[in-house]
Amino acid sequence: MPPKAKAVYVCASCGHETSKWFGQCPQCKEWNSMEEELRTVAPKSTQQQSALGAGTAAMTLDAIAESYEHRYRTGSKEFDRVLGGGLVKGSVVLLGGDPGIGKSTILLQVCETLGNGLEVLYISGEESAHQLKLRAGRLGVKTENLKILCETDTQYLCEYIKSASPGVVIVDSIQTTNIPELSSSTGSVTQVRESANLFARTAKVLNIPIIIVGHVNKDGNIAGPKVLEHIVDTVLYFEGERNHSYRILRTTKNRFGSTNEIGVFQMGDRGLSEVENPSLMLIEGRPTNASGTCIACVMEGSRPILAEVQGLVTPSGFGNPRRMATGFDYNRMSMLLAVLEKRAGYFFGNMDCYVNIIGGLRIDEPASDLSVALSLISSLKDCVMRDDVLAFGEIGLAGELRAVSSAEQRILEAARLGFKRCVVPQHNYKSLSASVKKAIEIVGARYVRDAFEAMID
Ligand code: TYD
Ligand code: MG
Repeated sequence: MPPKAKAVYVCASCGHETSKWFGQCPQCKEWNSMEEELRTVAPKSTQQQSALGAGTAAMTLDAIAESYEHRYRTGSKEFDRVLGGGLVKGSVVLLGGDPGIGKSTILLQVCETLGNGLEVLYISGEESAHQLKLRAGRLGVKTENLKILCETDTQYLCEYIKSASPGVVIVDSIQTTNIPELSSSTGSVTQVRESANLFARTAKVLNIPIIIVGHVNKDGNIAGPKVLEHIVDTVLYFEGERNHSYRILRTTKNRFGSTNEIGVFQMGDRGLSEVENPSLMLIEGRPTNASGTCIACVMEGSRPILAEVQGLVTPSGFGNPRRMATGFDYNRMSMLLAVLEKRAGYFFGNMDCYVNIIGGLRIDEPASDLSVALSLISSLKDCVMRDDVLAFGEIGLAGELRAVSSAEQRILEAARLGFKRCVVPQHNYKSLSASVKKAIEIVGARYVRDAFEAMID
């Protein structure tokens, strides 16, 4: 008699399992995330041992043979950068992003260079071989070393990888692969986790890189869950607005390089192309002689990037004024408005306030506080600020400007793009080297009001 199926409830957000349904996950406290799954057998891979096998003895660091990370170039400088300098042999990379953002496109594009010396296996559960052929034609991917396999059974796929031993494997996407032995449906948390486990083990045993595509659900998490992020070595997210042509590839976890690196791409009719000079692209076409606009400089990993911040302050028609922030933290904006009212004497009490970061970019760094505050003040007073001045700095609750990291890099980027003056916190100003001070006029400011004055004269 076949074993009786047992219902378990798995949290789609953190992967926590319970035998009873809960409205709120007991572990991650997410509401309405428990999904029912029927189990006839326990998932094998959670019980299986790691690739090292049983009976392995502990070793000292000296006794472990030295190996160096072999990295494959992907042919895209931006993609290599987010990976930390290339695709590491034996690593598992998760590429997440909204549907339609360009995950399949970029992976097919990197196949061209990877196929230059490596056998690439592209596993597609979403598109037919015919569709892929059409797309490859459009993207100009012609390499003979690219093999397409349209199949979704994970166990078969892993066996196939072992027998064919390709140089690189791409799985598009993990949500479509399944293990028939497990009774839960394709795309469920258990299926996604166990399939990812099997692929990760295959990558380690064969010492080949595997890139796994994962869709993001509407909250921005990779569907079927955080646990996926623990299984892989590197997590990349593809971000961007659908209506904007450019896309940002961001690292959130990397065992082989730094996180917070970004790569910038632009989607065109021949696929994704790299953007060499993202700052220039982001500040292009900004209005001149208009109030409420200010350029911010944020550090994305090791790179300074300029972005345009726009603020709009208008009298509110209702008793309760509206506050809205796009690309900037709403609570941080409320805090800045409170500081400006209390400490700097700018009153936003019965005004609707809007902040927008142009180009669909999200800026979270405190260093962008000053630009946001200045754009709001400029709009409030309807006073045009100079368009060749850039400002950065963190704003404290006493209205003071606090020093930020990497000041020199930010200033040099501003100088490179033709800005004439930089307004920086006084503490940063004191520690700047003479060569930086020569490159561009720098004004040190202690309070927001000083900074605003330096923006208009
Ligand atoms: P795709 O890579 O299929 O997205 P994902 O795999 O992340 O779901 O991207 C599809 C989108 O990209 C689609 O809206 C069309 C657009 N696109 C272009 O604009 N130009 C191109 O050359 C290609 C291949 C796609
Ligand atoms: Mg796709």
